Amino acid sequence: MLSAEDGKELKVAVMVSGGGTNLQAIIDAVKEGRIHDTKIVRVISNKADAYALKRAEDAGIEATAVTRSEYGSKEAFDKALLEALEEAGPDLVVLAGFLVVLSPGIIRKYRGRIINIHPSLIPSFCGEGYYGLRVHEEALKRGVRVTGATVHFVDEGCDTGPIIMQKAVEVMPGDTPEILQRRVMEQAEWKILPETIDRIARGEIAIGDVSGGES
Ligand code: GRF
Repeated sequence: MLSAEDGKELKVAVMVSGGGTNLQAIIDAVKEGRIHDTKIVRVISNKADAYALKRAEDAGIEATAVTRSEYGSKEAFDKALLEALEEAGPDLVVLAGFLVVLSPGIIRKYRGRIINIHPSLIPSFCGEGYYGLRVHEEALKRGVRVTGATVHFVDEGCDTGPIIMQKAVEVMPGDTPEILQRRVMEQAEWKILPETIDRIARGEIAIGDVSGGES
């Protein structure tokens, strides 16, 4: 387990696919001292045109695009993603709107040190195909009065790893998927993801392979 008590900064790699508002929340929290003893050492995107890459550049953070079309096979792409992570040498990997299923090799290498933000209260509205607006469309279709966001450890499944933090958000009359998504981001995602990273950096939440499996 690594913690700031070791006098070391928590090195974080953030993986993104889109607008990067969760990345921005982390960048701002580090800058404003709401995340202690942490350095974002790399931003990795699977989309070369992700606005998240611009956010990283504006913040002076090294950013890499690893795109599937550059590689002849999924295996080669997965290997390139793993190599990009290894090159960054993170203590913690944060999936912030990252839409690629991580390979077993990456999960094995970083077991217990990968966290993800999901825009619902897991186990509701999660799993295969539940990402982005679709999550909020399904919540509105089901008529839930409360939704929210979840930060969880990433394992081999889809949104199935141990839950770390959750924050509830009220569904309001007249909500559209877009309005609800925005409220969940503002009131939940952008709060619990930075808070989780800070708690890990301060040693309040343990990370690392507690299962004793392959490192
Ligand atoms: C959003 O749907 C968010 O709820 C989820 O990933 C998507 C993109 O987020 N976490 P971001 O703006 O790229 O962080």
